[in-house]
Amino acid sequence: MTAPPTAARRPVSRRGLLAGGALAAGGSLAGATAVTAARSDDPGVRPVAPVAGIGGAVEPFHGPRQAGVATEPQAHASFVAFTMRAGTDRAALGRMLRLLSDDAARLTQGRPALADTEPELGLLPARLTVTFGFGPGLYAAAGVDDRRPASVAPLPAFRVDRLQPRWSGGDLLLQICADDPVTVAHAQRVLVKDSRPFATVRWVQQGFRRGAGVEPGHTQRNLFGQLDGTANPRPGGPLETAVWVPDGPAWLRDGTTLVLRRISMNLESWDLLGHTDRELAVGRRLDTGAPLTGVAEHDEPDFAATGPDGLAAIPDFSHLTRARVGEDRLKILRRPYNYDGVPTADGAADSGLIFASYQADVARQFLPIQRRLAERDLLNEWTTPIGSAVFAIPPGCPDGGWIGQQLLG
Ligand code: HEM
Repeated sequence: MTAPPTAARRPVSRRGLLAGGALAAGGSLAGATAVTAARSDDPGVRPVAPVAGIGGAVEPFHGPRQAGVATEPQAHASFVAFTMRAGTDRAALGRMLRLLSDDAARLTQGRPALADTEPELGLLPARLTVTFGFGPGLYAAAGVDDRRPASVAPLPAFRVDRLQPRWSGGDLLLQICADDPVTVAHAQRVLVKDSRPFATVRWVQQGFRRGAGVEPGHTQRNLFGQLDGTANPRPGGPLETAVWVPDGPAWLRDGTTLVLRRISMNLESWDLLGHTDRELAVGRRLDTGAPLTGVAEHDEPDFAATGPDGLAAIPDFSHLTRARVGEDRLKILRRPYNYDGVPTADGAADSGLIFASYQADVARQFLPIQRRLAERDLLNEWTTPIGSAVFAIPPGCPDGGWIGQQLLG
């Protein structure tokens, strides 16, 4: 989280408030402590300077790498996938990405987008990030299919898959995350509106984690109640080598790839499972997240240990055993969001995980894990992949640049 720039703060005067147009009239600034000067391209709107706290917190947009990957996960996410319209060629794509990058650069910093129809909603970024992903069809549309990384393609079919087209594929992805759902909704509206001439919406998946400030510094829980994210590579060390593309095509350097899987979790049958069996299925305790051979969440699991019955203390087919990766550079970064749809009339839940995995190379890192899990994983009994999509996440851009410039510019 970046602290709000104090230099931008100025006391609000009554006169300043009254001159603030729509904001002052709507009373939206009541209680705010500061304003910044309006930019000439944001007519009539005085952006609120980021106030201390969750609403005003800012994540950078410009930089060598896109935000929203290594960023501490925000509470709310919307993943929006687009299909390019016929006729959206390389030049049109460039125009689209320039426009969307400009929207994202403004909104993430708490400034309304150009011609924002609800500029009042653009003032509290709440750590908003907008992360762009390029799906297989984008390269074809731009006539640069020869520059598509080989593994940015639909995943091979796995026997556990029950994929639905309405949650799968996509030429362009916008991953919109923030600690406030209104901020996410507004950013999504602006970005979708500006995409209209170039692309159609293919699917939208919305998810959530614990609210900002509810359990700071804790690993999130999924809707099975498990701590989910414990063994993630950590910033500074393994995360560097595992996630960011160090070599490969020049346009992807400092980028990464995203595999997005919508995985339905059957809460009805999970409900029938006893506490011990739930823990054996994953190999970790439900309360602390500790491996079944340890006491604290980050204790190293001991796969050789046996229980009083002589059986492996962490079952060979537990999710932990099957998903385990030893080598740092082969790890994946999981940044999942829970989803919770409308229950059926008789109360059966529609819940699961929007499983987002970032890695430098899909084929080298993601696929071997997914293959092992599809082959044998106790958790498969209660989980079903129902959507799948793969994107390259291109590098970031400097101020004045746009996302995708290295590929299409
Ligand atoms: C709904 C589906 C899933 C659920 C509920 C789930 C849940 C969990 C839980 C509770 C853990 C242990 C704590 C942790 O380290 O985060 C874990 C670990 C892990 N999961 Fe999953 N997971 C799911 C799907 C997947 C998929 C599809 C993959 C990759 C293809 C995957 C890869 C991993 C990895 C790599 C670990 C860390 C293993 C280690 O300790 O080294 N998971 N998962």
